[in-house]
Amino acid sequence: MTGANKGIGFAIAERILEEADDTFVFLGSRDPDKGAAAVESLRQGGAGRTGRVQTVELDVASDESVGRAAQKVREACVREKLYGIVNNAGIGFGSNDLGNVLNVNTRGVQRVCATILPLLADGGRIVNVTSAAGPNFVATCNREKRTFFTRPDVTWDEIERLMEECIAIANDADAFSSRGLGDGSAYGLSKACANAYTLHLAREYPQFVINACTPGFIATDLTRQYVEGRGKPPEELGMRSPRDGANSAIFLLFGKPVGSGHYYGSDAKRSPMDRYRAPGSPPHADN
Ligand SMILES: NC(=O)c1ccc[n+]([C@@H]2O[C@H](COP(=O)([O-])OP(=O)(O)OC[C@H]3O[C@@H](n4cnc5c(N)ncnc54)[C@H](OP(=O)(O)O)[C@@H]3O)[C@@H](O)[C@H]2O)c1
Repeated sequence: MTGANKGIGFAIAERILEEADDTFVFLGSRDPDKGAAAVESLRQGGAGRTGRVQTVELDVASDESVGRAAQKVREACVREKLYGIVNNAGIGFGSNDLGNVLNVNTRGVQRVCATILPLLADGGRIVNVTSAAGPNFVATCNREKRTFFTRPDVTWDEIERLMEECIAIANDADAFSSRGLGDGSAYGLSKACANAYTLHLAREYPQFVINACTPGFIATDLTRQYVEGRGKPPEELGMRSPRDGANSAIFLLFGKPVGSGHYYGSDAKRSPMDRYRAPGSPPHADN
């Protein structure tokens, strides 16, 4: 899994080890020292975890790094294939740096899937940790773009072209608006594109169970600045813990999601990709 040295990724790794005792976790971290520290912390957390987790240096923004990580996993899995891939690494809540945000949050997911997918066993799970910022962004788009982001036949090439178009007009709110791309939020756009990529991937690989989810609004380093700006404790802002934030990913890994190519809310219920669905409200039936 990617971006697992802290935050929600670390919590997902911990819960995988706790809830399925026949698992082995390749804990992706772009910084090897942070990865080693996370593995040490997991090992200290329970004797049963010793020998079931190892760190893999993995920067999702780099083709070379993803290639090296895939090779390391391939060498470690000579007799077995992977059960699942969790694309969790993410940046840019509140950022204007569209190129970087897309390179990690969208292209990073595609880079990892394209490279590591051959190592996945048939029936294996792919979980893309996206965000409610994706549907929220799509809700601000015009009808044509809303259709684009939810079309079952959307292709990665089309998503790439849209991302290039957006990078060319980055930080020009009027240009976004005149193209029907709503509020132009870099983070929201990146997550909407990652959800759309989930549609593409699920269609291309029917032998796997491929879904996206939001963890919910979670107190981590990603949201720290937002919390500090509000001057209130995270609980008062309705935020939950990283362990709670792992719920939907754990369901998509080990539960029984119906079908593939869907997006789930933080309550592990299906949600639309083009508008917000509050946890606890009726699940979405169709995209
Ligand atoms: N927190 C929320 O409320 C919330 C809400 C919706 C969605 N999400 C999504 O949940 C996921 C996890 O976020 P979080 O809240 O746990 O944030 P976080 O605490 O900041 O953790 C992000 C993780 O991603 C890693 N990462 C960043 N860039 C990377 C790269 N290029 N290659 C590999 N790893 C990279 C970070 O590594 P470093 O330690 O090296 O920086 C870290 O391990 C993200 O996809 C985020 O968008 C979070």
